[in-house]
Amino acid sequence: MSSYELKESLDLVLNNEEESNKHTVLIVDDEENNLMLLKRTFRGKYNLLTAHNGVEALEVVKKYGPEISLIVSDQKMPVMEGTEFLKEVNKNNPQIIKILLTGHVGTDIIVSAINDCNLFQYILKPFDPEELKISVESGIEKYSMASNNKIFYNELKKLFYKTIRAMSNALDTKDAYTNGHSLRVTIYSMILARALNFDDTFLEDLEIAGLLHDIGKIAMPKSILCKNGKLTDDEFLVMKSHPVKGEKIVININKLQMIAEWVKSHHEKYDGKGYPDGLKGEEIPLAGRIIAIADTYDAMTSTRPYRTALSHEVAIAEIKRCAGTQFDPKLAELFVSLEAKVAEAKSNPEAAYAKYSILQRNIDFKLPTEVV
Ligand SMILES: [Fe+2]
Repeated sequence: MSSYELKESLDLVLNNEEESNKHTVLIVDDEENNLMLLKRTFRGKYNLLTAHNGVEALEVVKKYGPEISLIVSDQKMPVMEGTEFLKEVNKNNPQIIKILLTGHVGTDIIVSAINDCNLFQYILKPFDPEELKISVESGIEKYSMASNNKIFYNELKKLFYKTIRAMSNALDTKDAYTNGHSLRVTIYSMILARALNFDDTFLEDLEIAGLLHDIGKIAMPKSILCKNGKLTDDEFLVMKSHPVKGEKIVININKLQMIAEWVKSHHEKYDGKGYPDGLKGEEIPLAGRIIAIADTYDAMTSTRPYRTALSHEVAIAEIKRCAGTQFDPKLAELFVSLEAKVAEAKSNPEAAYAKYSILQRNIDFKLPTEVV
């Protein structure tokens, strides 16, 4: 007998459209008669997987875990008991609904089974097939509701990210000279932050901040934003309001309050001579200090109406020169040490974004080609 027995090969079943709409239930029992009874009880309504003990069943779960909606397991089995098996399942597959079939046991065992295995229900043996059917149906209902909620949550998350990208793209396309700037600044910031081993939560927030760091420029008159020449003092004063305008735009978006602070601080300088608040050293949020370096590097290596792009080498030398005055010295030093990665990213921003992005993992969102 194979290590586990399938009514039909699940691989085949799942390739069959009609069958793939059915939920998959794994039944685990060492007694052949019980297994047959369970199979008869659920046959036709669900795709059935079977196993004769906990070890076999774990193999099945390892192979088909994401497809399995519910497990009905006997408690008393050789090799591995039902509770031990279900506890293992719960480690990697908490979403699977678990029902335990058991003889009369103490309430302490039942209580710990419910807690440790995240048990949906336990049913005393000998079981009434009709009662078990009802339990399984309500378990499947719970599973469906949870997975629908998950799908809904993921869709909302995708929509949120797409909106962020759309806002960033709208800004990047407003000015031909800064085309792709927000995306490149995001990439360089991510390269720096990844080298600092930040967790995904920080990286995700930094990515949003990078994409939106100049969003306040949306409010700048095109005559200033796209001026073909150097700005006058008055025009520069208007332009300097973009971090605060950006903060006001971003702060209105739920979840982005902290990011709004980062957006506001990306033109602060380490020596306190930046704007809008003249923050100094570590008063400037770390993300603001990171974006400041990435932003300046991209500004220097991009062609502007009043000058052609500086070379990568000149820009890196300038970052080095301004360490401790304009930039956080440790971050500047790290950025310089990462110059090969930065240069590679600069040569192909789309590929670099796919490589360093956290958001891109969550969404299937292609950039319009004119932006990259
Ligand atoms: Fe800016």
